[in-house]
Formats: sequence, structure tokens, C-alpha cells
Amino acid sequence: TGTMKINSQGNLEIGGMDTVDLARKFGTPLWIIDEEGFRRNCRNIKKAFSLYGDSQVLYASKTLATMAIYRIVEQEGLGLDVVSGGELYTALKAGFPMQKVYFHGNNKSREELRMAICAGVARIVVDNFYELELLNQLCTEENCQQEILLRVTPGVEAHTHEYIQTGQIDSKFGFTLSDGQAMEGVKKALSMPGIKLVGLHCHIGSQIFAMQSFQYTSSIMMDFWAEIKRTSGCQLEELNLGGGLGIYYVAGDEPRKAEEWAKAVMPVVQEKARQHGLKVPRIIVEPGRAIAGPAGLTLYTLGSSKEVKGIRKYVAVDGGMTDNPRPALYAAKYQALLANKAEEKPVETVSIAGKCCESGDMLIWDLELPWVEAGDILAVLATGAYNYSMSSNYNRLPRPAMVLVKQGQADLIIKRENYEDLLRNDLIPERLERD
Ligand code: LLP
Repeated sequence: TGTMKINSQGNLEIGGMDTVDLARKFGTPLWIIDEEGFRRNCRNIKKAFSLYGDSQVLYASKTLATMAIYRIVEQEGLGLDVVSGGELYTALKAGFPMQKVYFHGNNKSREELRMAICAGVARIVVDNFYELELLNQLCTEENCQQEILLRVTPGVEAHTHEYIQTGQIDSKFGFTLSDGQAMEGVKKALSMPGIKLVGLHCHIGSQIFAMQSFQYTSSIMMDFWAEIKRTSGCQLEELNLGGGLGIYYVAGDEPRKAEEWAKAVMPVVQEKARQHGLKVPRIIVEPGRAIAGPAGLTLYTLGSSKEVKGIRKYVAVDGGMTDNPRPALYAAKYQALLANKAEEKPVETVSIAGKCCESGDMLIWDLELPWVEAGDILAVLATGAYNYSMSSNYNRLPRPAMVLVKQGQADLIIKRENYEDLLRNDLIPERLERD
């Protein structure tokens, strides 16, 4: 990120804070979010799309949701994509304006739907027939009408890890376009008194570099848009194209700028609308990774090490798959450096192991570092997305703290968990009591 540099002590600095000082003050592992970087990413995307007309950027909460983060998202004028009662609750508690909240998810419960209706969220993104019925029933009971988008599976295979592909035909998400299910969903929605269909949604996957995937999707969605107009006379207003913009993690990654994303989809939407003689829809995008990912880094303290002669040197950190499960889950790769030796040249190749009791808990394979010693501070870059939000207490490790840095200020936005926190919900049934 732009606010990262090496300071006069030769230490890594972010947001005007020496990371070695941060490690000392707040302990490790430590998640750090660079406020200016996060805000800049929000602004760039918002600006890129606004150049083409009516658009709205939503921040995908699943990437990294805390009350402080929601406050920043609100200040930047973005809306919010939430996917659970928990994310919605967090947004409510942070005072986020509900008229800018979109509620997603492939199996929202009755309670979650009711919570969303009562909170007054802008849109519910309906995923399937079951939900359509359920929502209509709830709205009828509550005597209200909910504005919705229908999630469509456009049948696009984005070039990304198969676990984070979502737009292909064989997917658990959305109404399938190719077999007529989506059209059936539209007709059903249009006939329901508790529901007002205002548009469509799709999302093809995450960590996408190929802009053609977005382009192609926009074109498919606009053709469907026109088909809806033709067959039902209904002119929809809003097209949500999901998130998915990829970011830089390691050499070889070729992320595209927000402008390139907007430039890939907006002209297609406008041209298709013109071709079909339709009004250009309001375009919504809901990026997460591209906003939070590059703005985050994680600090660890190096501890034990082990050399397998002639093969490899393992060096262990005080965290691992509990604070960053992505390497274990997706074989995700990260770049890292020694924060306290940021100026020193690499002299050895080591593999960074987590501290969990599991061989798969490896954070980085074959990382080139200066001479490593126990006590060194390792900074893993671009950990703002899907790290905290996917963290766990595996092995009963307390979750780390998170600090927000900006211009020489550092504020705690998530407290470090302690052992008591781990026991918060533990109960011992009476019959197991000692006498
Ligand atoms: N909208 C919808 C409907 C989504 O399902 C997602 C991500 C997004 C937006 C935001 O996508 P982004 O802009 O962040 O790519 N845990 C995985 C990523 C899963 C993404 C799930 N959906 C990972 O760590 O790579």
C-alpha cells in the first residue's frame, strides 16, 4: 500500500507507525489495517464506476466486518452487502444506514429475513424459490412489500480457484439462467404481492484478473434483462454485478485497476441497453477483497525453527491457520518480510509454519529472508481480506487483536481474545460435576 515504507531504523512502517513498535505495544499475532489504503480503495472503485453514470458500490462485509470498518465504509459513501444475521447485527450496532444495505445468502433463515425486513434493508437478494415463497409469506404477515433482486447464475466460469468460483452452471447459488429457472423466478416474483422485483444480481467468483469474464457476464445479464422486458413487459432498474476484482499477493499476479473493471462492464451494459432499446440500469458492484485485502498486514513473532538437512528449513510463527486459513484452504500464496530487518538483503530460504497441530498449517513455502532469528517480526502482506473474517479458535488459540493505523496513530478496533473469552460459552452439565 502507499503508506508503507522503511523508516530510518530500517523497520517496516505502515500508516506512519513503526510495525516493530506496534508488535511490542499490542503483541503478536497482530492484524493491522491501513485506514488510508482502505479508504483509497473505496474511493477508486466508487470513482471508476461513477464516471459512467448511475452506480453504487457496496462493500462485501464477508471480507472483513467490524463496527469500525463499517463506520469507514459509511463515511466513504459506500453501501453494504451483508450475508447473515450476524453481519446485519454488526451493521445495525454500528449505526450503518439500512437504506444502503443489501442482504445476500443462499439459505437465509426465517428469523434472518424477518430481521432484515424489520431493519428496513434496501434490498434482499433472493437466491432461490424456497426463499421467494418464505419472503413473500413474511412480508404478507408484516403487511409490507420488500424490494428484491433476483440472484441469477449466468453460467460463466471465471478463471480462479474452483472453491471461490460461483457463477458456473453447477453452483449452489442462485437461479440457473440456462434452463429457464431464472425466468420462472422472475415471473413468480412479479406475481407476489409481498415482493417488488427491482433488478437482478450475479457474482461469478473472486480474485479475478480476466476482465473478459466480467464483460461476458454483463452481456449475458443484459440479454436476460431484455428478455424479461420482452416477455413480461417489466422494466427493471438495477443490475448488481457482484464483486470479484483480484488483487496482488505474489509475483505473477496481474491485478486490474478499478477503472479497467468499470471500463470492461459499463460500456457493455450501455451498448446492450441501446441495442435492446432499454433504459440503462443502475449498476451495483460489491467488491470486498479489492478494498480490504491490500490495506491489511499481519505481524507475527518468529519462534522455533527446524532444519531438514539438505531439504528445507522451517521457521514457526505464533499464529497460523487460525488467523489466516487461506494457505491451508486454497493453497493461497503470500509475500512477507522481516519487519525489523526490512532493509537487509535475503540470505536464506525458509518455509513459514503456523503453530497449529496440523501439517497443513503452513503459511508460506520457500520465502527468501535475511538471516532469521527467534524474536524477529514477520510481516505478511495483503492480509486484510478473508483473514480475520475466516479466523477460528482451532487448538484453542485466542484470536489476535486488530489495529487501525493512520498518520502515526494506532487504534485498537478488535481486542485480543484471552483465555476467558475461550470459555465464554462453555458449560459443564451438573451430572459431570465432581462430588
Ligand atoms: N458478492 C458476492 C455475492 C460474493 O459471494 C462475494 C464473495 C463478493 C461479493 C465479494 O467478492 P470479492 O470482491 O471479495 O472477490 N474466502 C475466499 C473468498 C470467498 C468469496 C465469497 N464471495 C477467499 O479467501 O479467497
